[in-house]
Amino acid sequence: MLSLAALSLRLGAAGCRGGRRSMATVISGNKTSKLVRERLKKEVEKMKSQFSGFRPGLVVLQVGDRDDSNLYISTKLKAAAEIGISANHVRLPNTATEDEVLQSIASVNQNPAVHGLIVQLPLDSVKPIDTERVTNAVAPDKDVDGLTCINAGKLSRGDLGDCLIPCTPNGCMELIRQTGVSVAGKHAVVIGRSKIVGAPMHDLLLWSHATVTTCHSKTPDLPAQVGRADILVVGAGKAEMVRGEWVKEGAVVIDCGINHIPDETKASGKRVVGDVHYASANQRAGYITPVPGGVGPMTVAMLMENTVQSAWRFLQKSQAGR
Ligand code: GUN
Repeated sequence: MLSLAALSLRLGAAGCRGGRRSMATVISGNKTSKLVRERLKKEVEKMKSQFSGFRPGLVVLQVGDRDDSNLYISTKLKAAAEIGISANHVRLPNTATEDEVLQSIASVNQNPAVHGLIVQLPLDSVKPIDTERVTNAVAPDKDVDGLTCINAGKLSRGDLGDCLIPCTPNGCMELIRQTGVSVAGKHAVVIGRSKIVGAPMHDLLLWSHATVTTCHSKTPDLPAQVGRADILVVGAGKAEMVRGEWVKEGAVVIDCGINHIPDETKASGKRVVGDVHYASANQRAGYITPVPGGVGPMTVAMLMENTVQSAWRFLQKSQAGR
């Protein structure tokens, strides 16, 4: 398949034309995630025929009833069903205690028909629940969110082949690969250090041999840091925080943000934007992800990828134990 880099060379999409800089090449998460999901569907069909009807199993555990979580979960369940993954939604009321949540996780951990378990975040509970304790209770070999200390520790040490990688940064790496731009030797800048996006993104870029700077709320002169990035990944959670003028010419810009801002021209009165000011960054970047349709769909595709991978590992172990 032709990479985006080769395509843009042919089309002259990135770089200067007649002294005026053209727009960045858009990296489509919709298209890339569709390719991933199609590949996974074939893999699951192969599993089914090779292992007498076997299907990977995924459980999404939800505490409470947040509207945004409901939407994300229904997207995940739909993607799983299309691929042939058997997905179940376990819903606990917002009055559930930490012990009840931990018991629920323990029972899924013990179920051999489940190969992936995620606890949808944030927890929507009226009781005090330690999110860290809850996410860490997931069996590391079923931790398809990659949030347990075991998986995070392996990733931080570069044991990429022996862990489950968090879905959003894994999806970002896939989008960067799509550009054809090699990561090794490049200067990568990550904005944000959350356990689910920024910190694992740092690790993935580092072990792909980039020199990585991770910025956060206490980083002085963010524009200067951004200006040094050949590859920029933003997971800051602040609408349109990164301005196009900060971006290095030709950089790869990956926007993990999903923010709702008021927009009177929309029937809903709002619209979704990323953490990067798209219109201005598009004038300077070589490649850029849109919001929506960039990183978001990749997160879902990578959750499916992790579930299928975990199921393969389960089958391998069961074969070896026979
Ligand atoms: N809430 C928003 N994104 C995610 C995700 O990737 N995993 C989980 N568990 N919760 C989320």
